[in-house]
Amino acid sequence: MSTRATAGQAALLEPGAERAPDPCTIVIFGASGDLTRRMLMPALYNLALDRRLPARFAVVGFARREWSDEEFRQQALAAVKEFSRRPVDAAVWDSFAGSLTYVSGEYDGAESYERLGSTLKRLDSERRIPENHLFYLAVPPSAYPTVVKQLGASGLVSREAEGSGWARLVVEKPFGRDLESARALDRQIHSVFRERQVYRMDHFLGKETVQNILVFRFANGIFEPVWSQRYVDHVQITVAESIGVERRGSYYEETGALRDMVQNHMLQLLTLVTMEPPAAFNGQAVRDEKEKVLQAVRRLRGNEVAEGTARGQYGAGWVAGAAVPGYRQEPEVSAESPTETFVALKLYIDNWRWAEVPFYLRTGKRLPKRSSEVTIHFKRAPHLMFREIVDASSIEPNTLAMRIQPNEGISLKFEAKAPGAPIRIRPVNMDFLYGASFLAEAPSAYETLLLDALQGDSTLFTRSDEVDAAWAIVTDILEGWAEMPPPSFPNYEAGTWGPDEADELMERDGRRWRRV
Ligand SMILES: NC(=O)c1ccc[n+]([C@@H]2O[C@H](COP(=O)([O-])OP(=O)(O)OC[C@H]3O[C@@H](n4cnc5c(N)ncnc54)[C@H](OP(=O)(O)O)[C@@H]3O)[C@@H](O)[C@H]2O)c1
Repeated sequence: MSTRATAGQAALLEPGAERAPDPCTIVIFGASGDLTRRMLMPALYNLALDRRLPARFAVVGFARREWSDEEFRQQALAAVKEFSRRPVDAAVWDSFAGSLTYVSGEYDGAESYERLGSTLKRLDSERRIPENHLFYLAVPPSAYPTVVKQLGASGLVSREAEGSGWARLVVEKPFGRDLESARALDRQIHSVFRERQVYRMDHFLGKETVQNILVFRFANGIFEPVWSQRYVDHVQITVAESIGVERRGSYYEETGALRDMVQNHMLQLLTLVTMEPPAAFNGQAVRDEKEKVLQAVRRLRGNEVAEGTARGQYGAGWVAGAAVPGYRQEPEVSAESPTETFVALKLYIDNWRWAEVPFYLRTGKRLPKRSSEVTIHFKRAPHLMFREIVDASSIEPNTLAMRIQPNEGISLKFEAKAPGAPIRIRPVNMDFLYGASFLAEAPSAYETLLLDALQGDSTLFTRSDEVDAAWAIVTDILEGWAEMPPPSFPNYEAGTWGPDEADELMERDGRRWRRV
């Protein structure tokens, strides 16, 4: 590994420590789509604004739509104007726009890839780019295998041994829809790319607050000793959305909350919170430890699925003062849809550190607010000498809340003596707020991850074995659900915290969900 830091590492280190990416070309498949418009173009433009892109650089947009280079640039400008976190600077835009080229073609047509190949050859030669190509799959998942196969057949992908440059593949989520399909996709990808050339996106890992879990745990000496079953009673992970399915009804019908959020984002959060300290901050060491956690997650089988999970689907209700329709009334959604828009589950990690500590995960749409956080709930003090003075049950155990979004920060709740006599004990918070401590605006997750992929740093991307282990956990649950009678949906009102079953999951253990 280079001694200069890559984007993900530099976010954790000193300013200016970052390594510039090699001269290269990004090829975006699906360049006419929503992801390109809302995420990729704004991220690339902001990297240009920060001078993070290499001087010798090009972007080739590829899609079926028949656009000229100029139309592609106009679309990109409109996207940046609408979605960039910073306004458009005319000079930076002009220079960035000069790097944009468009190729129109069928995803399954050999002839399209010949044209793509000659465009790359021309750009590489004009811009003196040493055949470094990053292929970005921003097409619907059904098109991934086609594009990968054609990339292989066209000879555009060097396996890095023969060619002078590198070839990398960025794959968006979802990566498969169960264990079997994820493995099949892996086989297709590995027939063309080596694993080290593959960058599987989970944009949660590009979030500053998610990376900060690693810094909090491993750059401080005082938390690790209490980070285990000895001191931790349980852990809660919440990823709550107030939005519904918006215009993605047909996608969501095939997906549901478990596949959409748990298999990737939430299990990734779980690994960062629970993994052993890696020996180094690099792709291999970090991902080795994450994968070990996923392997240690106790699998839910048969009846355990009913006991350890709760699923829900929202009906009509009110969110932020506005009346909203139920899931089954959303566009492109079946009036009898069995798809879950909420899931809660209890998991255990069967290893020395976490033996018998429950991890409660919940995620859902149309909840009262948007909020993602991880909370460590510590055990009570072992002996309460105040028991004769105050009601012992009123003394709350310590909690450490890591807020991923919004109000990014960390709070430690502990008990304090309220002023005056007699002794009264009240919980107080010690707060770290990103906004107050750091004045600089954070880059978007896509900026961080795109730059990392350009720099060849895979630390914040999921590896094949991690994805496999995560799907194994989730596929057991999907299979368990398939065996159970269909739930009576809808079972929670939009604007509430999910179905009663989610509360019961906690109440059975004498616990409750934290108010986020
Ligand atoms: N949008 C997001 O915010 C988001 C977030 C996370 C992950 N993702 C993932 O990123 C990928 C792209 O998402 P997206 O929202 O940009 O998708 P999209 O807008 O539906 O599609 C992107 C482009 O792919 C092309 N395409 C190729 N085959 C297609 C097919 N069979 N049906 C429809 N379009 C096809 C279309 O362009 P042409 O017709 O011009 O070829 C379309 O503009 C997906 O895998 C998605 O799951 C998206």
